[in-house]
This record gives sequence, structure tokens and C-alpha cells, in this order.
Amino acid sequence: MRLIIALMLGVIFSVAHVTAFAEEQSKIAKRVDALLQKMTLTEKVGQMNQYNGFWDATGPVPEQGDAKTKYEHLQQGRVGSILNVAGHEALREFQDVAVKQSRLGIPLIFGFDVIHGHNTAFPIPLAEAASWDLTAIEQGARIAATEAAAQGVNWTFAPMVDISRDARWGRVAEGAGEDPYLGAEIAKARIKGFQGDDLAAVDTIAACAKHFAGYGYAEGGRDYNHADMSYSTLYNEVLPPFKAAVEVGVRTFMNSFNTLNGVPATGSIMLQRDILKGEWGFGGFVVSDWASIMEMTKHGYATDDRHASQLAVIAGSDMDMQSFAYVNHLEDLVTAGAVDESLIDDAVRRILTVKFELGLFDDPYRYINKKREEEVLGNNTHLKAAREMAKRSIVLLKNETNLLPLSKKQKNILVVGPLANDKNSPLGTWRLAVKDDSAISLVEGLQQHTSAFQYTQGVKLSIGKETFADPIVVNTTDRSGIAEAKALAKNAEVVVMMLGEHGYQSGEGRSRTDLGFPGLQQELLEEIVAVNKNIILLVASGRPLVLSWADAHIPTIVQTWQLGSESGHAIADVLFGGYNPSGKLPMSFPRSVGQVPISYRVFSTGRPEPEEKVFWSRYMDEKNSPLYPFGYGLSYTTFGYTNMQAEVRDKASIRVSITVKNTGKRQGEEVVQVYIRDKVASLVRPVKELKSFKKILLKPGKSKEVEFILDRDSLSFYKDDGKFVFEPGDFEVMVGGSSGSVLTKTVSL
Ligand code: BGC
Repeated sequence: MRLIIALMLGVIFSVAHVTAFAEEQSKIAKRVDALLQKMTLTEKVGQMNQYNGFWDATGPVPEQGDAKTKYEHLQQGRVGSILNVAGHEALREFQDVAVKQSRLGIPLIFGFDVIHGHNTAFPIPLAEAASWDLTAIEQGARIAATEAAAQGVNWTFAPMVDISRDARWGRVAEGAGEDPYLGAEIAKARIKGFQGDDLAAVDTIAACAKHFAGYGYAEGGRDYNHADMSYSTLYNEVLPPFKAAVEVGVRTFMNSFNTLNGVPATGSIMLQRDILKGEWGFGGFVVSDWASIMEMTKHGYATDDRHASQLAVIAGSDMDMQSFAYVNHLEDLVTAGAVDESLIDDAVRRILTVKFELGLFDDPYRYINKKREEEVLGNNTHLKAAREMAKRSIVLLKNETNLLPLSKKQKNILVVGPLANDKNSPLGTWRLAVKDDSAISLVEGLQQHTSAFQYTQGVKLSIGKETFADPIVVNTTDRSGIAEAKALAKNAEVVVMMLGEHGYQSGEGRSRTDLGFPGLQQELLEEIVAVNKNIILLVASGRPLVLSWADAHIPTIVQTWQLGSESGHAIADVLFGGYNPSGKLPMSFPRSVGQVPISYRVFSTGRPEPEEKVFWSRYMDEKNSPLYPFGYGLSYTTFGYTNMQAEVRDKASIRVSITVKNTGKRQGEEVVQVYIRDKVASLVRPVKELKSFKKILLKPGKSKEVEFILDRDSLSFYKDDGKFVFEPGDFEVMVGGSSGSVLTKTVSL
């Protein structure tokens, strides 16, 4: 009875919630319409124009300069948004001009790249994805929003939900990896975290699903490059996280730099008008990527900026980030009859709606508050959460001789590697509001646990400047520290080596063809292995690296990514067993660069079992499988999977259950993963597709039955024409703790 009452109350509450939301939306729509009536064409186009504040540009900047030099544009109502400025003083200055000096006083919306934390750096998004912990990821985004909003920011250009299987592409650091299902779940968690339940609250910000679409499939893994794919790949692999973003109410989208099948995404009617705003009914607005409107001329799709503006607005790009194209040409295009004014009205309506939803019209200064900024920025609970998230992001790749966890009594530890003492690199890419050199380094983290270690750098990783806008200059000549490191390693009981990429070696514009350790680090590793095999290798990177040599020669490997402000603390917690690692890889780690792009979610060839013969689908010099597969990650304990059941639930769904037992000696968490293969279909389906997962905690010796329902949608797929179909037949259901190790049952529907 109580349950029934609770359910009824739940229904009443959610109906009331939906009704209140609809009422609010209709009020906003009226206010938007009323305002639109008063606006001149110049002012309308102004809302569609976004300028960079002043900060480092991430791309070519038009000759006109930036927002500071464009005060008269603010006064004329010719700017709707400013990006990449934070802090009450700077933002108040801009908002004052827009609100007090322009005719209609329409407030600006301030956008910022809040990618993994804001003032407190959380792990890079790819690392967070390795936690498979949706609650923690949502909370991380919540905290980032709280900090950003306290600095006056209204809108983040996140989450990046681009799927990619290509570790050469530097921006894999910003995404959730290779899998559309995991990517969609994480996209939803991040958006809920940023936007909360009420966009007008002073600690929430609008989110932005980017980059729409296909950006992660850049040919050759080279950033900004062309992407070419079938519609089935687009619908089944690339679009699911974007669609999920719309379903949880993301307020904005960003289009992308790439061309997709020959059409720049920024000018794509199919993507923006047909799919996003048409099929999915997206009611928010689309911002271009940085100068991507004017880049359509470079692509060879538009003759000049004016033509590019026309194409972009017709295609549904609502706001122009930093191309100066809309502000210079749209008005004239409308007057000349080349663009219908209703398209402008539609774009402006969308932009104003989000501004109203954020509460900016009720109080343009609601987010700009010195006191709140000071209170929020000094908040220690944020650091605690960042440390927790960082621990959860670490993936134990190998622990063959059980060197880990280290005992507190462990003596004579040598710590080696250029990144071990680095306080900047762990902050990763995109940390615009974080203080440089503010991360806890590994050395600092270890100091909290033991004094029985010494540190030597071995080799420098980079020489020269390390900034967001400059490429890292890698040291390839200075070997002067190797001899000392080797001598110390000879006498050490355990060597902890931290090698990998600097935080600025992944991210935008950081594509690489070599996925090894940059510079002299591999040489250092081999020199140390020659004198001491008791090595714990910590891999700090923003992407999967090729670890084949390390895997063949070193007993213990831990993937530690770039973990943010609390990096050193989190790693030390894991090394000394204060936290039992529970991360699982969100991207396959290749054996060699030649395998890239690589994913577990592949199609069967007609010659699937590679034999040691020529005429099979295989490489002559490498296995087909990755070194460490998607979903893989060890723990200090072990888990056993037994008693798998998979049965028909009804005509179009399957019930799956499995007993998972902690068979080791420590409490630990396991990510139980469910995959399917649709055995025969009208469009060939992948050999494995992740469809569900649960992260569970088990005490030693304890077991748990874990249940999953695979509904009709999870058994369906998109055809080339975008139709979502369910085809009854045989489905292989697979359950395990990694895509590489599963129990299998076949179910016929
Ligand atoms: C990136 C976007 C980013 C924008 C604004 C561009 O270069 O591609 O992801 O949000 O700059 O900083």
C-alpha cells in the first residue's frame, strides 16, 4: 500500500513538475516574442555574434581583433555573447556596456571552456570516463558548474561527446572514448551535472554538446581533417551521445570544423536542420566552432565570408563564434533577399530563450558576485571530490608479481621520470581557469605516505615554453641524468617510474603519429630495466599510448592519465592501497600505431579467425587484438563470474543475470559489462556492442547477483536511411569484466 502511495505521489510530483516546466517555457516564449518585436535587424544579427574576450586564441583570428577593441559593437547591440573571460570584474565591465549602454539592454551570455573542472582541475574527461562512475562524473560537472558560475560564466562548451577510435587524435583526451553507449551515458551525466534541475540557479550553467558531428573520425587522426563515413556509422556510432544530450535537455550544441562526407559540418543542413532541429526537436541553439564559418572558404565550400554566412545560417548555425562573418554580412544578405529573415528570427529566438532560462533578463548580474566568487573558489570540498574522482579514474593494467599495493614499510624506493615531479602537466589540456603549476605532483603525493624514497628525473621531457598555445619542444639530446638514475636504480628495492606525455601534448591541435613515450623516456626505461626489474610504471597520458615494450618487460603498469589538481595524492592513495583501483579502459590500447583506428566494436570479415597463413584478415607483423581491450582494468582483488542466465523476457527484450564474486582478499569495485551481438541482420552488426553496465562494490568472499534488462531499443539499430529497426532473431549476449573476457549465451527472439 505504502509503495502504491509513494508511486502515486511520484507520478503527481512529476506531472506537476512537467506542467510547471511547460508553463515556464510558455512564459519565456511570450517574453522572447515581445522582445523580438522590438529588435531591429542589426540587433537581431548582433545576438548571433560572439566575440573572444581577449584570451589566447585557439585558431586564426579575423583582422578586426577582439571584444575589447569592439566596445562600440557592444554599445550598438551587435554582440550577443563573449567567450573565454571569467571573473566578476571583467564580466561586469562587459555586461555593463551591453545592459546600460545599448538600446535594448539585452544581457550577454558568457561562454567558457569548462572542460574538466574550472578552478579545481578534475581528471581529463577521458580519464574520468575510465571510472565508469556516472554519479561521480555528474558530481564533477556539478562542481565545475558551481565554480564557473561563481566566476560569472553562464555557459560551458562541454561536454565534448565525439566518439573516436583513433588515439593519434589529440582530442580523445576531451571525450569519453570509443564507445557510443558509454559515451551517451557519460554525456547525460555531464549535462545533468552542469545544468542541474534549474538553469536559473546561480550554481548551474548551460551545457553544450560538441562537436556536431564526425570530428572524432578525422582522417589519419589529424585534427580538423576531413571525415568520411557511411550513414550507418554516423547513426550508430557518432550520433548516439548527441541524441542522448538532446534527450536530457542540453541547451546548446557546437558544430565542428570538419567536413563530413564533403560538406562542412558548419554548413550542413542535414546535421543541423534535418537531424538536430527536425528529427530530434532540439529547441536550444547551435554555436559555430571557432571561426568555422569563415573556414568554409578554405574548405572550398564557400566563395568568401559573405557566402559562408549565407550557407551557415541556412544550415542552422545560430551563433557565429569569432568569424566576424554574421556581424559583417548577415544584415546585408537579408536585405538583398539572399537569406530569409525568418531564419534570423528563429536563431535569435533560440538564443534569447536560453538567456531567459538562465535568468539573465531578470538580473543580468546574477552570476557576477564578488562575495560568492571568493567563497566558492576557496572551497576544500571541491578538492576532496577531485581527489576521489582521480582515484576512480586510475586503471591498473598489469600487476603480475603483486608489487602493488606497496606496504607502508617498503624501504628504498626510487622514483624516476620527468613527469613525477611536474605540477603543471597533471592539469592536462583545457584548464584555462586553473592556476599553473598548482597540481599535487606524484613526489608530493608520495611524501604523505613515506619518506623512504628518493627522486631523480632521469631525463627532461621538454625544453622551452610549455603553454596552451605553443607546441611542446621535446628533449631528444640531453642524456646527462640517465647514468645517475641507473646507478640509483641498481640499489633500489622498487623503482616507481612515471613516464608519458606532458598535459599539453594532447588536446586540440595535438595529433601524433608516434604513440610511444616522447623524447628520451623509452631509452631511460630500457636503461633502468637493464639494472632493476622491480618496476612500477605509471603512464601519464592524455590518450592510449603503445605500451607493448613495457608490457613485455615490466611486471606492473598503471594508467594514470592526467588527473588534475589532486593527481599526486590520488596516485599515492592507489599505490599504497588506500584505494583499490576500479577503472576500466574507455578506449582500446593498441599494440602498435599501425592498428589504429582500433575498437572492440568491429565487424566480422568473411575470414575472421586469423590463422598463421596469408589469406586471412590479419597483419603479417602484428596480432589483430589490442594490447589492452576496451573495458579492461584490474583490481587488487579478483572477481569471478558464474551462473550466467540470459532469457527471453518478452518478444523484444532479454533478461540477463550473473553472479559476481569477490574471490580475492580485499574489498573492491567491479564494472560488470553486458555486450550483445545481433547474429544475423539486414545490416551487418558489430561482433560486440556494449549495451549496459553496473559498477558494484563487493567485500572479500561476497557475491552478488547482478541483473540487466536489454530492452527493444538496445537490441535495435539504425539503417542507412536513419530508420531505427528491431529485427528479431538470434542475439549473443556476453557478460564480463572487460570486452576481452566474457561469458556468452545465445537468445532467440
Ligand atoms: C575548439 C572548441 C572550443 C572553442 C572555444 C575551439 O578551437 O574546437 O572545442 O570550445 O575553441 O575555445
